[in-house]
Formats: sequence, structure tokens, C-alpha cells
Amino acid sequence: MATTQDYRLGEFTFPRGWFMIATSDDINTHKPLAVRFFGQDLALYRGRETGRVVLLDAYCPHMKTHLAAPNDTSYVILDGGGTNIEGDSIRCPYHAWRFGPDGQCNDIPYHEGPIPKTACVRSWTVVESLGAVWVWHDPEGGEPEWDHPSLPEWDDPAWVRWKFDDLGELKQHPQEVIDNICDYGHLGPIHGSTVQRYENEFKGHLAIQRQCGPHRTLVSEDGGSPILHTDTTYHGPGVLISYLTGFYESILMINHTPIDDGLIKVWHALLVKSPSGKSEVTVEDTIAAGQFQHASLLAFKQDFEVWTNKAPCLNGMFIPSDGPFMKARIWYKQFFNPRERKNEFVSKCEGVYVPKGAEPYSQQ
Ligand code: FES
Ligand SMILES: [Fe+2]
Repeated sequence: MATTQDYRLGEFTFPRGWFMIATSDDINTHKPLAVRFFGQDLALYRGRETGRVVLLDAYCPHMKTHLAAPNDTSYVILDGGGTNIEGDSIRCPYHAWRFGPDGQCNDIPYHEGPIPKTACVRSWTVVESLGAVWVWHDPEGGEPEWDHPSLPEWDDPAWVRWKFDDLGELKQHPQEVIDNICDYGHLGPIHGSTVQRYENEFKGHLAIQRQCGPHRTLVSEDGGSPILHTDTTYHGPGVLISYLTGFYESILMINHTPIDDGLIKVWHALLVKSPSGKSEVTVEDTIAAGQFQHASLLAFKQDFEVWTNKAPCLNGMFIPSDGPFMKARIWYKQFFNPRERKNEFVSKCEGVYVPKGAEPYSQQ
């Protein structure tokens, strides 16, 4: 597998941005979860006092015990009712030091006197929305540059909420997935689309694709709209949101998060507006939406299957009738370099691009 350096993306191994790290359901348990992202082992849990989500560096500063690895033998866990989460804090299974959601040690049971300030682990910026847990990752340690993912439709009773499909790990650098945002040429052969109009736009931390045309899987042949319109945006390097109008109105989400350099974890989901047109979703709506999410997942698997087996595209043989791959790769570089250099990359890719021979989307 190829690395960030192989793709010459910039000085940071992992990009700046919001990333999905779990579904909300993953942490609806009383136990902490050991996860690994950005080349680091991490401890994720839901506080039992307030329900807030906490993400800490995994290794206890005392003697480097993993705070969230499965443990069924320590008396910290046995006496804690099967968990080492206490209120919104977590207690190390080895010598029982306890850490708060801010990462600071707030109890050492066998020690009197002040707790050293350095007895702490890093606490990450996390939020929960859309049925997922998001982390702000920033190699420079800065505040979030844009808002975490949210959708007003999530709280609208006329929309069927999604449950994420967990596609597991993909042994590819995320660059290979990012390329998809401008891959005009694959839409016919892979997805069965007959693209009528197509364009890409790059704007700050957003990379956009707009296209429409008949589609072999995501629209019905008998009734509904025969044309699928998709308006797709990468919000930073890890979160893709696509508005689909065709058979049903729906919102597609695909998230990928680096685990290690050249290895990612991937999720897919689809939010569907009441297929029967009701202002509150019905049981039938939920079933129809589930089937539509499954069809959307199959469409995504058409990409995923290729990615699973391909070699890294370090120097593509791009032609003018392809989408603007090189622009998208410049756009992607802004996240692998210091924030103060952002405009260097953005100014080299901002604008609207139409592949040679294609009709622009904006022109009716
Ligand atoms: S290793 Fe965590 S308390 Fe000692
Ligand atoms: Fe695709």
C-alpha cells in the first residue's frame, strides 16, 4: 500500500478535518471501546453520568496500560459492574488511576496529596450527530476550521433516519477514494449511469460534483423520475454528503477515516424522505428506505470492489476527457499542510471544471 509521502501530499501524514470514528450505537454499551485512528490507539466511551462522548489517548501515563482494551479480570472492572467507566471518567485497570473527560487524572486511590498535572492523557474534540461520533483531527492542534457534519433533515419527521453500513477496513490510501469525486469516466462503466450533464467545483474546503442522467440501479424504470440528479460535496477530506433526486429524494453519506498511513475505515448511509410522501414516516416508509439504502450500498460497492484490488495510482495517465483529477489532488493537499498554507492550494484549484466533451451541469 502507498503512503501519504508516496502521493506527495504534504508534510502531515494524516489530514486536518472532521472524521467519523464510530456509530452512536457502537458506544451504546457500558464498556469503553478501543479504537485506532491516525496511527494512534485511542479509548472511546460514553460517559455514564451525562451520556457525553469522550475520546482519550489510549495509554495511561503511569505505566502505559490501555484504558479501553477488553479486560475481564481486573478488580477495577469486576467491582465496577463489568466496566471501568465511572461517571464521565475512566479508571485504568492496572493501578486504578482515574481520568476525567478532559484527560486529567482526578483520582489515585493509594496516593494522598496533589495529583501531578502531568498525570494526563490527551482528550480529543469529539461531537455526536447524525447517529455518528466525529472527531476533529488537526496535526497543528488547532480549533475546528469548519462545523461538524449536521443535516436539518435528520430532525425532520418526514425523513427516515439511517443506520450506518460499516464497510470495514480498506487497504488503500484515502487519495484513491477522494479521486472518485471527479471521476467522470467511471460513472457509465461502473455505476451504469448515462451522464447527460457534469461538472466539478472546488471551493475552500469543499469539493463538489454535480451530475445528472439516467441510471441503471438507483432509479425505477416504471414510474418515478428516470433521471438521477446527484449533488455531491466533500466537506473536508473525510465526509461526503450527496443529495440524490430521482426515484426517492435522499441524502447519501460516505465517510472514510485514516487508521494508519495507507489504511482507512469506511461507512455508508442513506437518509430517505418518506417514500409515500407522508409528513411523518410510516413503517412502510422505513422498509422502503431500508431497501433503497441497500441499493445505494450496492452502487457504492461497485467502487469499493475496484478499490480493494487496485494498485495505488501515484501517476495517473489522465486525459482531457477525464474529470479534473489533478485539481482534486491539489484541493486535497490543503489538509496535509499547515493551515497558513491553505490558500496556496485553494487558489490553484478553485473554480468549475467540465471534462472535454461533457455538458456543464449548470447549463440547462
Ligand atoms: S498503568 Fe494505569 S494506573 Fe498504572
Ligand atoms: Fe463511484
